Amino acid sequence: MNATSTPPPVDYVSRAPRAPEGEFDLRGLWPTPGPIELDVGFGRGASLFHRAEAAPAARLLGIEIKAKWATKVAERAQRLGLDEIQIFCGDAREILTRAGPVACVERVFVHFPDPWWKKRHLKRRVVGDAFLDAVSRLLVDDGELFIQTDVPDRAEIYRDSLVVHRDFALAGDDGWLERNPYAAASNREERAARDGLPVRRLLARRRVR
Ligand SMILES: C[S@@+](CC[C@H](N)C(=O)[O-])C[C@H]1O[C@@H](n2cnc3c(N)ncnc32)[C@H](O)[C@@H]1O
Repeated sequence: MNATSTPPPVDYVSRAPRAPEGEFDLRGLWPTPGPIELDVGFGRGASLFHRAEAAPAARLLGIEIKAKWATKVAERAQRLGLDEIQIFCGDAREILTRAGPVACVERVFVHFPDPWWKKRHLKRRVVGDAFLDAVSRLLVDDGELFIQTDVPDRAEIYRDSLVVHRDFALAGDDGWLERNPYAAASNREERAARDGLPVRRLLARRRVR
């Protein structure tokens, strides 16, 4: 390659770590047991790295549909020797239906899941009824689902879906939280804080079976 030629595009799709085929056991992703937490659509991954620091015992699985971010974050975690962070590239809505066993996950984070926030994009949203069913199957009794967004209409839609879902109970009086209590800010959260954008945060717990 001479000094003026453009480097070939990086093939993130073939490098990205994938979930196993068929049904699989989440507990087998780490060499030693610990409380399992999921970060759905982690993007550039700040929330995963912050969480690894804040909760060293947690076994963190990030699922991201974009191959570029899944690859970069997985490679960074490896470089830093953070074995507690595992990454799958793919659609979390599909992967979670194949994950098991029932009641093995302590906590699920969904930070700013709204790249397509217009009304006509509502059908593409990650946090829909099928996703909530998959999460409720995986969460332990009293396990936590934390969702935050800077799209106010979506926050209301997520809350309404949680209110009618038989397996979830909103935390506190109404489910809304002032702050992210997990010491694990996502990239978009950091940007919203810098830009002074309001963020709506919801916490729900899996009802006891
Ligand atoms: C608005 S970004 C937020 C990224 C990060 N959570 C943050 O707060 O900075 C939404 C992320 O969700 C990812 N995403 C969207 N749909 C997804 C799906 N079905 N499964 C996994 N990731 C998804 C997108 O690729 C994108 O990285």
